[in-house]
Amino acid sequence: MKFKERVFSGMQPTGSLHLGNYLGAMLKWIDLQKTHECIYCVVDLHAITVWQEPGELRHAIRQVTAAYIAAGLDPEKSILFNQSQVSAHAELAWVFNCVARLGWLNRMTQFKEKAGKDRENASVGLYAYPNLMAADILAYRATHVPVGDDQKQHLELARDIAQKFNNDFAESIRTAGYEDGQFFPQPEPVIVGPATRVMSLRDGSRKMSKSEPSDLSRINLTDDDDTIAKKIRKAKTDPEALPSEIEGLAGRPEADNLVGIYAALAGSGKADVLSEFGGRQFSEFKPALADLCVARLGPIAQEARRLMADPAEIDRVLVDGANRARIIAEPILGEVKDVIGLIRAAS
Ligand code: TYM
Repeated sequence: MKFKERVFSGMQPTGSLHLGNYLGAMLKWIDLQKTHECIYCVVDLHAITVWQEPGELRHAIRQVTAAYIAAGLDPEKSILFNQSQVSAHAELAWVFNCVARLGWLNRMTQFKEKAGKDRENASVGLYAYPNLMAADILAYRATHVPVGDDQKQHLELARDIAQKFNNDFAESIRTAGYEDGQFFPQPEPVIVGPATRVMSLRDGSRKMSKSEPSDLSRINLTDDDDTIAKKIRKAKTDPEALPSEIEGLAGRPEADNLVGIYAALAGSGKADVLSEFGGRQFSEFKPALADLCVARLGPIAQEARRLMADPAEIDRVLVDGANRARIIAEPILGEVKDVIGLIRAAS
């Protein structure tokens, strides 16, 4: 089967989004919107793999939706919704729990990092999380998945699950009319640009993340202009001037990170940034970076705040998106049920 090109991606509503989410994934999402059918999800079922305070979760789902729209995702053009409103995600995830192998999940580095030493006490959901992620993508037969570098391993697992499903049910899939046996596509990761892995502003060896205790380590999409400028000013650097060539960034993780951030925000490449700033000190580069950050992120924060003043409108967008998502996912889930031998009401 020739699969129609379709984009799917998602973000967890655990706290507010940060610069890593924006540069690593969302900039690409906005681009793809111009050329592709896009489905962008607020993955609330993923968020509850770790306990969330219910009021805060509700707030975070709306806040992430507001950030999506404020950053430039168009709810008329793309489908924006929260995962729990489309039950096909959870249903297909169960099927995939029965397709994926324990050995595959045991290799997932993100589970090891998140569960830490107290593995016995981690939720079963946190362990099975990559199967739900595969279901998110394959419930729409999405072909392209724009994400940051940290999601690469999960996407490889989604591809393995698609492949194994196609193999396990090969005969039934052919009988259902898929002559080439391809029921699910192999979703392609789209991991591109100068900032696929944005690092902490306090430690160039750690990823920028919501779970880092120090707020100075990340720029939140909700930060005001002064806070953004302060965080850039305080960002860790080394004492050398910036190099003129990319090779000169090797072994200088903090410099590499700030140059990557600048390039991604400016829509250019690291080489362009170095040809402008090579030989200059951080005392000159940082104010330029802070100005660029404020110019790009300030309006997003402002617009998101404006949208958050009308939560009913945000909820309306989510309900509308979920209705449109269901129209795509439900027939695919129905076919999955047929292929694996379950009985459902005739449609
Ligand atoms: P999440 O919520 O942790 O992150 C959302 C997106 O932001 C990217 N990202 C980063 N990119 C660069 N540098 C960083 N420091 C950084 N931190 C986060 C992530 O790679 C991601 O693209 N499992 C996913 C959510 C998910 C999903 C999906 C994604 C659930 N189902 C289906 C794609 C398709 C996650 O936890 O992302």
